[in-house]
Amino acid sequence: MLEHQVEPHVFVIIGATGDLTRRKLLPALYTLRDQGVLETRNTLIVGASLSELGVEEFRLWAFEGLRQTGGYNETELRVWCDECLYYQAMHEGGGQDYEALALYIRGVERTHNMPEKRVFYLALPPDIMPIAVERLDQVGLLKSHGWVRIVFEKPFGRDFHSARHLNTALHRYIEESQIYRIDHFLGKETVQNLMAFRFANPIFESLWNRNTVENIQITVAEDLGVEHRGAYYEDSGAFRDMVQNHLTQLMTVVAMEVPVSFDAAAIQNEKLKVLNCIAPITPQDVVFGQYTSWQVAGQTIPGYREEQGVPKDSTTETYVALKAEIHNWRWKGVPFYLRTAKRLPRKLTQVAVTFRDAPTQVFRSLDPGSIPPNMLLITLQPSEGFSLCFSVKGPGRPFQLTDHALQFDYENAFGKPPEAYETLLRDVMIGDQTLFVTADFTETAWRLYDPLLIGEKSVHFYTAGSWGPSEADALLEKNGHRWALGW
Ligand code: BG6
Repeated sequence: MLEHQVEPHVFVIIGATGDLTRRKLLPALYTLRDQGVLETRNTLIVGASLSELGVEEFRLWAFEGLRQTGGYNETELRVWCDECLYYQAMHEGGGQDYEALALYIRGVERTHNMPEKRVFYLALPPDIMPIAVERLDQVGLLKSHGWVRIVFEKPFGRDFHSARHLNTALHRYIEESQIYRIDHFLGKETVQNLMAFRFANPIFESLWNRNTVENIQITVAEDLGVEHRGAYYEDSGAFRDMVQNHLTQLMTVVAMEVPVSFDAAAIQNEKLKVLNCIAPITPQDVVFGQYTSWQVAGQTIPGYREEQGVPKDSTTETYVALKAEIHNWRWKGVPFYLRTAKRLPRKLTQVAVTFRDAPTQVFRSLDPGSIPPNMLLITLQPSEGFSLCFSVKGPGRPFQLTDHALQFDYENAFGKPPEAYETLLRDVMIGDQTLFVTADFTETAWRLYDPLLIGEKSVHFYTAGSWGPSEADALLEKNGHRWALGW
């Protein structure tokens, strides 16, 4: 496919001295430069934030952060920081600050003879996003002879109304084609590979429907707890933090029809169609859980209610499992089970496609329950790859079946996959919206889930380090299914 070049531009990060910039954005930008995607001095980075830093201090802060990330040539890194990073301190984020920022950006553009092409990455709390965009507009930074793109991350609202409100507020100043809403899961190499897997391999595409598929499971398991984010998480919970965005995105990529072409509009359109076909999810189809403490090797892993910033009687869910049904020609009758949680035994993001059993049993002497179904496991992290599980005859007699897998291991084949932010930032710079979230998608997803998020919910406890509450197993058992676990 034709690779677009990154045009010279200024990449502005507002809220530049936070954790996100240091841990994700700067390493991704520097790696893109290291790979030659960004030519030196073609992309100038302007940081702006409330921290009272001078430009030299910002460069040093960035340099130190990148140095700790490791693996870079320090001399080249130093040169990059000195030549490409700029900084403008803001005082309270008011109108005057934005006036000053506008002057500063125009000064940088003039000095380096840059065109008026700008990315604004808003690393800001969600409630000040609309006002920041309004101020950028007031000071004329959104009008240019080149292009302007705005990037920001979830949460895109906390329900349908707040999401619509946010989108309407943004659309007053910018077009949807200028907005890049990041769901970092979409930037993961293996999520893109999922599309390649489906649409470049007709043997699988012909099996990808209700005639052959029994159920599909999407698991995003994390071994960590809420860490230092107790207060944020308490307000969000696993549903808003993970299901409405990451898991729903994965589900639509797995379930979508073949798009007419591999471009943003065609793909977004097919994903949205899937969302629109999901039947209302009832409370009986959802299990909420919360982790309790665990004693392991003389250590106590605290329960959610013991985490910092979490009330002792919290009913916020750290575990969600649900069953969704897509009422379209391809998927009617195939349950999609989604689950995500903190403090499970290990980190695993996986799509498990279980195929239907054979219509009749040829191996009559064998217990039919002992023959595992064919299964395709698509592991997105860690150990990215695919496993196609099937039965083979074990050696000798008596006649016995055992299960094995054909495996593809991404890292073995290609080395370590790129970081999601490298992919996503490059796509912003070349103006490709394929891997970003549209306003319609986010509103439609909220509309689907809102009814489940209002009112009291019953939360089942599970011990940290276990695979979640037994009620989640029962959710599948009702249909004769069980959770698949990584190969
Ligand atoms: C974030 C959530 O969006 O995704 C976190 O807010 C979660 O709670 C994280 O831990 C998981 O991302 P990854 O890339 O580590 O799987």
